[in-house]
Amino acid sequence: MPLLIKNADIVNADSRYTADILCEGDVITRIDRGITAPSGAEVIDAAGKHVFPGFIDPHTHIYLPFMGTFSKDDYETGTKAALVGGTTTLFEMVCPSRSMSHTEGFALWRQQAEGRACCDYSFHMGVTRFDADSVAQLREIVAAGVGSFKVFLAYKGAFGVDDGELWQTLSLARDLGVVVTAHCENETLVAELQKRLLAAGRTGPDAHHDSRPPRVEAEGVNHLASFAELTGATIYIVHLSCREALERAIAARERGVKVFVETLIQYLVLDKTWAERPGFEGAKYVMSPPLRDATNQAVLWDGLASGLVSTVATDHAPFDFVGQKPMGRDDFTKIPNGIPSLEDRVNLLWTHGVKRGRLTPEQFVAVGSTNAAKIFGLWPRKGVIQPGADADLVLYDPAYRGTISAKTQTQNVDYNAFEGFPIEGRPTVVTVRGEVAVRNGVFCGTVGRGRFLSRVPRRPAGC
Ligand code: URP
Ligand code: ZN
Ligand code: ZN
Repeated sequence: MPLLIKNADIVNADSRYTADILCEGDVITRIDRGITAPSGAEVIDAAGKHVFPGFIDPHTHIYLPFMGTFSKDDYETGTKAALVGGTTTLFEMVCPSRSMSHTEGFALWRQQAEGRACCDYSFHMGVTRFDADSVAQLREIVAAGVGSFKVFLAYKGAFGVDDGELWQTLSLARDLGVVVTAHCENETLVAELQKRLLAAGRTGPDAHHDSRPPRVEAEGVNHLASFAELTGATIYIVHLSCREALERAIAARERGVKVFVETLIQYLVLDKTWAERPGFEGAKYVMSPPLRDATNQAVLWDGLASGLVSTVATDHAPFDFVGQKPMGRDDFTKIPNGIPSLEDRVNLLWTHGVKRGRLTPEQFVAVGSTNAAKIFGLWPRKGVIQPGADADLVLYDPAYRGTISAKTQTQNVDYNAFEGFPIEGRPTVVTVRGEVAVRNGVFCGTVGRGRFLSRVPRRPAGC
């Protein structure tokens, strides 16, 4: 059924104007003033709402076997939560164990998503080892539409690669034209600091930060940038959390390294005092890199406004407070790492970014949607409202006032790290390729309608 959105305040990353939007089939077919509804069309009046391109989360873990357990969401619950929060496309990290081949890993993650995903999705292919079979397998996976890799410089003995593997991965990526996304923390420093803290009796969640201080992350960024400089690969630093790490990324960019930077909504609105809460409460706030000293928040907001930081992701990795986080009750190094936020990213970015005057609405669209589409080869299919683009639209009500709570959330986890945080706006209607998937803030779409988005590697469009 055609869909006509009337009186839309259309906000793109580089433009803002009022018009009607006609969606037919999966795509936007016309944008104009005074469009007459075709017969049988659903008409939605967007007066008083902003209309944004569907938001894109470039870094999530919906299916994640990690630290002896599994993340709680599956593709049905995770993508419903994404849609309720205004995210219409997400990128998942395929994270095969070192004993699994890349081919097996890719097949397993596809199997998790197919038939369950409610929004569109793509993968970053985790390169968790590099052996004789890797080149052929990774070439095949890229040919199947996965135009980006993921490497971990952290998680010794689990997902982490050594320097030889890093060199080979970046060299292959350069040859294939794929972007390499990277978790940057020096794993040896983490392991040694963890031992030292435990030996000193620091076993609680508050010690997590000190086992991965800013210097550990800055060292990881610098290390990756050196390898990228000498291989010629394009890198994308995931979940950058602090000033020291950003300085290393900027220094690399200034000497010609092709580097993009992602931060997370958690680092923008939470600080390390949350992980220092008494009892075991701080475990809710254990993730890597850790929440930082609050002084880093202004650095990250400024980075987003100036373009030094391209994207805001979630690194959504949901582990229950009861039953999963307590795996590390007596040893903080065993607390499953992750702070879920897939459902709340857009509303928090709007509330703390646009409403507090740190970002313009256009910058909000850029860092929440368009830049990820450009970097990872989805633009202009995604990340922009224009004829020919997929009809992924977010009708956003700036008059809405509400409070985040685990009691009302869609994501499948037993707590919310932003419990009680006010939000000053929310998506009322969300469409996925022309189908209304959220109405009045409630999921009403089709389970399994989400599509795997095949991406052809190419040099990222400038952003
Ligand atoms: O703590 C985190 N970030 N958990 C998810 C895995 C990762 O490092 O991205
Ligand atoms: Zn990571
Ligand atoms: Zn991650």
